[in-house]
Amino acid sequence: MNVVTVKTKEEMSATASKLIVDKLRQKPELVLGVATGGTPIGTYEEFVDRVKQEELDVSSMRTVNLDEYVGLPRDHEESYWHYIYTHLYKPLKLPVENAFVPDGLSRDLEAECNRYEEAIESLGGVDLQLLGVGRNGHIGFNEPGTPMDSRTHVVELTESTRQANARFFNDIEEVPTQAITVGISTIMKSRSILLLASGQEKCAAVEALLDGKVDIEWPVTILNGHPDVTLIVTEDAYCSDKEDDHA
Ligand code: PGA
Repeated sequence: MNVVTVKTKEEMSATASKLIVDKLRQKPELVLGVATGGTPIGTYEEFVDRVKQEELDVSSMRTVNLDEYVGLPRDHEESYWHYIYTHLYKPLKLPVENAFVPDGLSRDLEAECNRYEEAIESLGGVDLQLLGVGRNGHIGFNEPGTPMDSRTHVVELTESTRQANARFFNDIEEVPTQAITVGISTIMKSRSILLLASGQEKCAAVEALLDGKVDIEWPVTILNGHPDVTLIVTEDAYCSDKEDDHA
């Protein structure tokens, strides 16, 4: 794993967006796996600025969301469709048919999971997967204990994840209890992975990852078995007793 330690979240976002732009230059029809949550927002902002400044044509890029809440319509402000539309598609005026997001309103969620997995395959797979990590080590919504061979599936969100995401809603009661997430094996099929971690609350997950072992209770650690992972991590995401080791 290529570990890049930076001082600030701004530096993390700038480094990550540059890496995505470099990939796009090599392959304009890039299939970019996109994460949601607080961590990558700055990366999308930097990316949008960079694309505008450098007048890059990114209209052939396709994006594949990691996950979507069950029960939220697309136009709900907290749906992940809305998130990626707001942070990428709207500012860059990109064609929305290039945005692939699971349908959390599907009446047959299992069929929707299969359809999504097939959609990713028909795109030729994900070239670069942008990932955040949950404080409990989840990637996408693959919570601790998720089988490593999982494909796109429906998950019951853990209390810890619902609490972490309650800040985006008026009340924790409004946070959906289920989501569709791509599976761990789906993530592992991505050709390259760009993992971002920032903030002290992520330190246990970062520590588990950097231990180098694979532990089903810390889903992020599966990335130790992937051949092309870049971790961009801010200094405050190291557990303080280990700070000196990693500085
Ligand atoms: P966050 O979430 O970026 O909002 O901290 C990351 C995640 O849960 O994967």
